[in-house]
Amino acid sequence: MPNTVSFNKNYPVITESDKLYHRATGLIPALTQTLAKGPQQYVKGVAPKYLKKGKGSHVWDVDGNEFIDYQMGIGPLSLGYAYDVVDEAIKGQLNDGITFSQMHPLEVQVAELIREVVPNAEMVRYSKTGCDVTSAAIRVARAYTGKNKVLCCGYHGWHDWYISVTDRNMGIPQSIQDMTFTFNYNDIQSVIDSIDDDTACIILEPIVFEAPKDNFLQKLRDLCDQHKILLIFDEMWTGFRLSIGGAQEYFAVNADLACFSKAVANGMPISMLTGKTEYMKLLEKDIFFFTTFGGEALSLAAAKATINELRAHNVPAYLVKQGKKLREGYNSIASELGMEYTKCVGFDVRTIVTFDAKAGNPLEMKSLVQQELIKRGILWGGFHNMSFSHTDSDIDYTLTAYKEVLPILKKAVDEKNVAGYLKGEAVGPVFRKTSNFNMKPKVKS
Ligand SMILES: Cc1ncc(COP(=O)(O)O)c(C=O)c1O
Repeated sequence: MPNTVSFNKNYPVITESDKLYHRATGLIPALTQTLAKGPQQYVKGVAPKYLKKGKGSHVWDVDGNEFIDYQMGIGPLSLGYAYDVVDEAIKGQLNDGITFSQMHPLEVQVAELIREVVPNAEMVRYSKTGCDVTSAAIRVARAYTGKNKVLCCGYHGWHDWYISVTDRNMGIPQSIQDMTFTFNYNDIQSVIDSIDDDTACIILEPIVFEAPKDNFLQKLRDLCDQHKILLIFDEMWTGFRLSIGGAQEYFAVNADLACFSKAVANGMPISMLTGKTEYMKLLEKDIFFFTTFGGEALSLAAAKATINELRAHNVPAYLVKQGKKLREGYNSIASELGMEYTKCVGFDVRTIVTFDAKAGNPLEMKSLVQQELIKRGILWGGFHNMSFSHTDSDIDYTLTAYKEVLPILKKAVDEKNVAGYLKGEAVGPVFRKTSNFNMKPKVKS
């Protein structure tokens, strides 16, 4: 019988997952289309690999095992799986058609809605992926300023201009690699040191897990004004989650352009570039940014229903309420056990569990927690990506599971033998290095 969300005696049977995995090996390079969903992020031999159904905050894998999900599609499931109001909107639109030969009224309706809820969204464009719109934003900034270089902080997608700063930069010409540099979050001096006469813009995730200190975001705004360059917020994680209007609203800092995707359509593929007319109007004629599926109507219908639902229920406040219980609960269990090396940190809408390398290999510690949570029916990748469907009983159950699992980790750490407790290969690092790499040397002209 497949495992359920309960204190199961056994690890789940994952025969069907493994069969698919073997069929995909050698057929689908890297196996996954989304790095964070791939098998490397889960303990081999223990975790499922393929999910086939979701309802609310729960998912079922291809072997029929059930889990509470804290990954939530890596961000998009802001309301929850198979959320009725959104699904009805999609089905309603499906009856009328998906992609049309001319523009669709939803393009206008959703843009009006976005303009209403997102600060500075004087104009709005759609596309399909997060990196479509971050790349469009960079192009707008370069076109507007007549400059080339980009300073960034965070993850911004697979396109050349960004991924060139990472160590997975094969296939990208050196000339492109020489155009993008990173700066450290909350280190205003690292930004000041990097700006030169050819800098077009600063793009960043306004927050990841660390809070801005010492007016960092406003200082970036001021620097951009001073140098007449553009400030771009990559709101893939903050938009429609931290608050409906994203980080611009939450921190009361104005960006020139802002990029959204993930939470805005509860799982449907759509992204948005918003910003002030002064910059966005370059997209009218001078800049080419058009794509076949940009106005695809199912995703627009989903976005409209999702935004209305997020507003009607003040979903960001709910995410904070539930996320806070998990963060505080986790930290109090860890501290009662004297495990000062593990903490749950971040903004309550999305938190991360950290493991200090002083206590052992952080990836092994994370793997052991994941392995034991999977046995107990919780699909966990080190984060609490909260949704409107995470119920009180999900949270209570999860905290009870942490109460069982953290003592196992403590014992393993005390014995200096975390690896010995693992039933399979440990998880790999998440590809997300946001500080102290590819810094631009100080250039003084
Ligand atoms: C902050 C941020 N920006 C951009 C992207 C790229 O979005 P996509 O994978 O949809 O291209 C992501 C994806 O996770 C992201 O987290």
